[in-house]
Amino acid sequence: MSDASSLFPRHFRKDLPVAVRGEGCWLYTQDGHKFLDAAGSAAVVNIGHGVPEIAAAMSAQASQLAFAHTSQFHNAPAEKLAARLLALAPPNFQNGRVYFTSGGSESTETAIKLARQYFIEIGQPSRFRVVSRRQSYHGSTLGAMTVSGNLARRAPYAPLLPEWGHIAPCFCYHCPFEQTFPQCNVACADDLEHLLRQSDPSTATAFIFEPIVGATLGAAVPPDGYLTRIAEICRRHDLLLIADEVMTGLGRTGKPFAVQHANLEPDIILTGKGIASGYAPLGAVLVSAKVVEAFAQGSGAFKHGFTYQAHPVSTAAGNAVLDYLESHHLFARVQPVAEHLRAALAPLAAHPHVADIRGRGLLLGIELVRDKSMRAPFDPQQSIAEKTRIAAMDAGVLTYPTQGCLDGARGDHLLLAPPFILTPAESAQIAQALSSALTKVFRD
Ligand SMILES: Cc1ncc(COP(=O)(O)O)c(C=O)c1O
Repeated sequence: MSDASSLFPRHFRKDLPVAVRGEGCWLYTQDGHKFLDAAGSAAVVNIGHGVPEIAAAMSAQASQLAFAHTSQFHNAPAEKLAARLLALAPPNFQNGRVYFTSGGSESTETAIKLARQYFIEIGQPSRFRVVSRRQSYHGSTLGAMTVSGNLARRAPYAPLLPEWGHIAPCFCYHCPFEQTFPQCNVACADDLEHLLRQSDPSTATAFIFEPIVGATLGAAVPPDGYLTRIAEICRRHDLLLIADEVMTGLGRTGKPFAVQHANLEPDIILTGKGIASGYAPLGAVLVSAKVVEAFAQGSGAFKHGFTYQAHPVSTAAGNAVLDYLESHHLFARVQPVAEHLRAALAPLAAHPHVADIRGRGLLLGIELVRDKSMRAPFDPQQSIAEKTRIAAMDAGVLTYPTQGCLDGARGDHLLLAPPFILTPAESAQIAQALSSALTKVFRD
């Protein structure tokens, strides 16, 4: 990295270009290169870069009211966005409320504390722990890491993290029970029942899950019936159900929230990333009427808070992004765009190391394996996902690589999560760049 930089970087041995401009699906750098953002910059940029209406809305809000602390004031853009999000959510969120944060990890922290205090409010103070899944990711703060099951991201901090209980992932391509759907009868969902029976369920507040596991498993979609079974087990043991829609939320899978594909009614929905499409740091915790009621009828005060929660400029960005999604019919555009992207990627499946192209809507994963017939991963030392990212970037396309989908260390995949405005020509460019990247990586 450049000695001239004053930034504490994510990685000291990576030399990163400086991004200076974004427009549509493209990012431009100081040294004159341009890149097609096929990852939506980590599943963030839903409407595309450089939309002038969003900047104008943020500027107008900052000029009128940039900040008023939420201990003393509400503000109009937050109020408006909250009502709009609840209207998009499943029916049990009508009469719910929204708690705005500055991003996904803060949304997870908020949900963990909401669940804990909910049970205090209803007279069950023995409940405190949130159960989750291995091979999942819910954020980088300590509470969020406690529930995350991403081994590589947890490992250095293990002594700081209590173990609240993790169940098996739902990952058909590498089934942890070595079974096949539907004969498996979604045994991975029943793992929640087993864990609750083994460990006292009366100490658990909630189960948190990604409807489609993004970063860790590379867009692994659960089979039919999985989420319904999970919800049924939670209800039976009085656990709240927390859907982490930080990656999937606000249209990425073709519906406002991915749980709506399964007609699921979680108690809490988390968002971040796409809610303001990268124009401002923003997350939202949607709280269903049942949970709201417990606080309203109970102590009346949630013992939690962030200085920047419900920030007027961030929520103004959120409203402007939602205006743009609605006025350009972008929720409805996800499916047709996903179809042309899938069609463009389909020939890659013939590559000897492209194992599985999976996902829903515009959250797609491409898994790379050493041996397709055995579904055998590469040696992690080979850094295949990262090498493929670099080669695709050299070919002008940005992807989101991760290693460890199989067991936390082994398993390489690339995530694709482009803006919903992607054109067929851009889909073809993505496929072309990936094809040449694979040729380069496996030739070298
Ligand atoms: C499912 C999920 N939850 C939470 C987070 C954390 O969000 P943030 O990085 O905005 O804190 C992420 C980030 O990748 C995520 O994918």
